[in-house]
Parts: sequence; structure tokens; C-alpha cells
Amino acid sequence: MKKNEAVEFPIMELKNVCFAYGRQVALRNVSFSVNQKETVVITGPNGCGKSTLLKLMNGLIFAQEGNYSFANDEITEKKMQNQLYAKAFHQKIGYVFQNSDVQLFCGSVKEEIEFGPLQMGLDYKEVAKRRDDVAKLFRIEHLLERAPYHLSGGEKRKVALACVLSMNPEVLVMDEPLAGLDKKSQMWLMEFLQYMKKSKKTMIISTHNEELTDLLKDRVVEMNEAYTIQRIL
Ligand SMILES: Nc1ncnc2c1ncn2[C@@H]1O[C@H](COP(=O)(O)OP(=O)(O)OP(=O)(O)O)[C@@H](O)[C@H]1O
Ligand SMILES: [Mg+2]
Repeated sequence: MKKNEAVEFPIMELKNVCFAYGRQVALRNVSFSVNQKETVVITGPNGCGKSTLLKLMNGLIFAQEGNYSFANDEITEKKMQNQLYAKAFHQKIGYVFQNSDVQLFCGSVKEEIEFGPLQMGLDYKEVAKRRDDVAKLFRIEHLLERAPYHLSGGEKRKVALACVLSMNPEVLVMDEPLAGLDKKSQMWLMEFLQYMKKSKKTMIISTHNEELTDLLKDRVVEMNEAYTIQRIL
């Protein structure tokens, strides 16, 4: 190794993770790790377990067999029942859901974006600055007073991304970020994600889009219909 080359450690590690919704298996013996500053793309056919895998990595559901660790700390249901622990964990991982409807719950886009930074305990001046910065970045200033549930699908996606980015999480997890966006918004988001990659943000992204995969991948985790990893490229 060269003298100045930094060693990157795994920030997320899954070992033989299994998960089922009742009798419906969704993950079978899934093992891989994500290094700091790495972009990992998750691909595979509909229903193979990608969203389930991302939910598990975000501590919304838990391994029924095997285990999942974040920064060398095993994430368990018991630990996540502690609200302070859960809050600290959720601030480290920004999660953009496949369906933005489940993510947005405030009366206005302005409140929606302010919610996370306020929860982090930032003072209102800083909260307002972050809100305005991300609104500008995502070109949604004109939507700030609107109700999130009255926005179009693409507008909701941008608001959901803006909310997550306003918290400046260590890791960014995105489930099908391009789905439902028009060509122009897709191009813009692809550029934005390339910029995030260049700034060495750790990212885990599930997508069916081959162009996005080729642009971003450090590694690709390919899943299959047996709810497990086919190969890692
Ligand atoms: N809440 C749920 N209850 C029961 N089964 C579920 C639930 N959510 C997902 N499943 C099932 O678990 C499996 C994995 O689903 P998942 O949503 O993780 O797939 P996916 O790879 O994200 O698919 P897509 O490409 O369509 O988004 C599927 O067979 C699905 O039907
Ligand atoms: Mg999915």
C-alpha cells in the first residue's frame, strides 16, 4: 500500500441475513459489506428483496437469522427500542424510500424539510439555512408553501431527497431514486449522485437503471429470484 493511501473500513456488514414477512421469504443468507466512501448498487428482478434489504440496513426491520452491523455495532430490535439510540442511528443514515408517500407527513414542504434538522436539535437559524440551501439545490423553492401530499410523484421524490440531504447523513440509502422522474429530472439526479460520489459520500442505491449503475458503481450486488445474492461485481 502507498504511504498516503487511506484504508477504508466496512461501515455496514451483513452476515448470513435472513428475513421473511410471515411465511413470505424476502432475504435468504445475504452477506456483503459496504466500505466507507463506497457506492454499492443493488440490482435484481422485481420482488427479489432489494427494498427489504434496504429497510433492514436502515433498521426498520431486523435480521431473523444472521446479523447486521453498522460501524461495528450490531443493529438489533432491542437496541432500536431505545429512542435515543434509534434517533442517533437514523441521523447517520439518510433513507429515501421507493414510495415517497410513506416518507412525507407534514402540512407543508417547508415544515417537511425543517423537521429532520429540528429533530437534530439545531437552532432555527441553521435549520432555515439548511432548508433554503437544499430547496435551491433541488430547485423546489416554489414548492415550499405547498402541501406534500398534493405534489406530483416527481416533485415528492425531490422533496424526499431534499429532506434527507438537509440532515447531511453519513450514509445515503436510496431505493429506486430515478423511478417516476421525467428525463430531465433523471439527468439532473444522475449528475447530482455523481457529485455525491465524487465528494466521497457512502451510498447504497437500488435501481433497475443500467446507465445509473454504470455511472455510480464501485460494486454491484446482484440479487436473484431466490431472494439471495447471485453475484457481486
Ligand atoms: N409487507 C410485506 N408483506 C409481505 N410480503 C412482502 C412485503 N413486502 C414485500 N414482500 C414480499 O417480499 C419479497 C421481496 O420484496 P421487495 O419489495 O423487497 O422486492 P424488490 O426487489 O424491492 O422489488 P421491486 O423491484 O419490485 O421494488 C417479494 O416477494 C414481496 O412480495
Ligand atoms: Mg423495491
